[in-house]
Amino acid sequence: MKFSCQHIGIIMDGNGRWAQARGKNRSFGHEAGAVKVREMTRVCSNLGIRYLTLYAFSTENWKRPALEVSFLMKLMIKYLKNELPLLIENNVRFETIGDLSPFSSALRKQIQITKDATAHHIGLTQVLALNYGAHDEIVRAIQRLNEAKIPLNAEAIERHLDTAPFGTIDMIIRTGGDTRLSNFLLWQAAYSELFFTPTLWPDFSAEELEGMLEDFEQRERRFGGLNS
Ligand code: IPE
Ligand code: IPE
Ligand code: MG
Repeated sequence: MKFSCQHIGIIMDGNGRWAQARGKNRSFGHEAGAVKVREMTRVCSNLGIRYLTLYAFSTENWKRPALEVSFLMKLMIKYLKNELPLLIENNVRFETIGDLSPFSSALRKQIQITKDATAHHIGLTQVLALNYGAHDEIVRAIQRLNEAKIPLNAEAIERHLDTAPFGTIDMIIRTGGDTRLSNFLLWQAAYSELFFTPTLWPDFSAEELEGMLEDFEQRERRFGGLNS
């Protein structure tokens, strides 16, 4: 079945609780979360989705204990290195949103290597949100407009958001049971369809995603107008 949804955003939440429920430490959950990223990328690619934007590290996640933050940084480097052959095999283009400047040069280098090696791919675009926060994104967009002396209006802001090259976000999914956006794609979410599931991210499945995509097809999107 072909779905009309082109761009999915996912708040991948619940890794820590998934590990704790198994008597393991939170890192174990993050490892399982990375495996799920790989699986869902393949699933979305096979379903013909164009863009998959995944919230991997928020501007607020620096507040976590230093050990967890440094584990996540190392995991991102490891993930990118392991992932490259698979991205190539599946014709997936790799991109990011968020401010990469606070990351280590090793991580930034690996991000650039992955972007460069996949830039010509025409299948799914996997966009990782790294040190991403919607407030920060909007402020950076407005700063760029001010510097270029471009008049401020909604279209101009939209064109300068990190997501500008990737188009409108049709649906936003949050796993892990909480019903909030936690600073993810706040501007873009204006007319996105929202899906919240109690499933913890490492347990999320292709079946559950397909159920949401079918639900999406049934939703009447009016964008403030009236449907006949
Ligand atoms: C989401 O899972 C992953 C990141 C924020 C990096 P959490 O680590 O927030 O897991 P829970 O919500 O504590 O279970
Ligand atoms: C959102 O999850 C961020 C990511 C999934 C990367 P959090 O676990 O950080 O969100 P809160 O703290 O529950 O709002
Ligand atoms: Mg969480």
